[in-house]
Amino acid sequence: MKICMIGVGYVGLVSGACFADLGNTVYCVDKDKEKIDMLNKGKIPIYEPGLNEIVNKNYLSKRLKFTTDLATAIKSSDIIFICVGTPTSKKNKSANLQYVFKAANDIARHINKFKIIVTKSTVPISTGDKIEKIIFKKRKKRLFEVVSNPEFLREGEAIRDFRFPDRIVVGSNNKKVTRKLESLYDPLIKKGAVFFVTNRRGAEMIKYASNAFLATKISYINEIANLCEKTGVNIEDISIAMGLDKRIGSRFLRAGPAYGGSCFPKDTKAITVTGDLFKTDLSIIKSVIKSNTERKILLIKRIEKILSNNIKNKKIAILGVTFKPNTDDMRESSSLLIIPFLERKGAIVNYYDPSGKKKEFSKLSKVFFCKDIYETCKNSDLIIIHTEWDEFKTIDFKKLSKNRKFKIYDMRNLYSPKKMKKMGFSYYSVGR
Ligand SMILES: NC(=O)c1ccc[n+]([C@@H]2O[C@H](COP(=O)([O-])OP(=O)(O)OC[C@H]3O[C@@H](n4cnc5c(N)ncnc54)[C@H](O)[C@@H]3O)[C@@H](O)[C@H]2O)c1
Repeated sequence: MKICMIGVGYVGLVSGACFADLGNTVYCVDKDKEKIDMLNKGKIPIYEPGLNEIVNKNYLSKRLKFTTDLATAIKSSDIIFICVGTPTSKKNKSANLQYVFKAANDIARHINKFKIIVTKSTVPISTGDKIEKIIFKKRKKRLFEVVSNPEFLREGEAIRDFRFPDRIVVGSNNKKVTRKLESLYDPLIKKGAVFFVTNRRGAEMIKYASNAFLATKISYINEIANLCEKTGVNIEDISIAMGLDKRIGSRFLRAGPAYGGSCFPKDTKAITVTGDLFKTDLSIIKSVIKSNTERKILLIKRIEKILSNNIKNKKIAILGVTFKPNTDDMRESSSLLIIPFLERKGAIVNYYDPSGKKKEFSKLSKVFFCKDIYETCKNSDLIIIHTEWDEFKTIDFKKLSKNRKFKIYDMRNLYSPKKMKKMGFSYYSVGR
């Protein structure tokens, strides 16, 4: 099939490359010329394990094309996926749909024959209706069908998630169109993915309801961890035993920093706005948002406590700044609050992240990017493990410094408190 992906970000690039790998011809279109030029030179603009190989292989076979020429891409494709960002609006907490509507307007201008228009972007319930209206205004003749097909891949695991999804959700009442999408996804369905069809609003809702539920699970275990800290109970035991109950499940049940990333924070906010719009108080999700915001403050207070409220001139090492491992995505990461706070309080902050230096900290004069764990931690008063990258799981703390006076705050519970104590370290973790 011939496919067009509008928006070549984490979702558009990964799913575009993977669709090409399934034998389709894929036009990846972005308004960002720099990004498209990079891709045409064989450089991948994001950090996503395994993506480089798939992109290069399919680019060379000419099944994967990168362009800013939307008109040609639309005219040449049967199915058009909208994969642009839907960040939180600056005005209120809803999703900013300007990029989605711009894409819809662009599609309307260039449709030449029947097209299936698929929203992969996470969009509030009834956005599909609005896209349909926008296109219909410009194209009176019905040359299109708007379908919802939300994306569930996770950054850092995106290739695997695309190839082996639990389910593929399609929202459409048009049987012919649904069948066409079913055949597009057929190779994944054959490997066990459930192809689930509902109406368009239903598909839009499924995405938000799923993300809000996962965010709730994280906030829930984080709050239980707070109680564990006060009661001398080990949160890891609680997570393991709770997770063994099949009704609960073990995933998204590990205590740590506040949830971040490009999805959970914005999607939880957006669904509560939709709830309010439809006069339905989503009080559980509202509490989750509050709990997650408070968690960031709580982490900062804990750091202050560990350093006995004496942060000025302290050397602090931060290991990992992204919101989770195996991605370079900084959106809504707790580190965006923690690092500037420490700098304001007079600390000297060294940080290291395997995905590289971050522009977000470039204006902070006492915040420095280091090339590895050992350079980062040299002569530190406090080492904070913020992100669970694999290379932080086996640090030889004895090698870091002969002087063992430094403290360790492990926000990911990667080490055993007992063993760390035995080795003579002042070790703090989460919920234990
Ligand atoms: N990142 C994830 O892990 C993830 C997972 C599932 C769903 N989603 C959803 O998918 C959508 C995209 O997320 P993302 O993280 O890939 O976003 P992103 O910000 O990484 O990429 C969006 C891209 O769209 C481009 N763009 C914007 N308007 C355009 C236009 N009119 N024409 C062409 N290109 C345009 C931007 O230049 C950018 O490159 C969001 O709605 C998000 O909620 C994201």
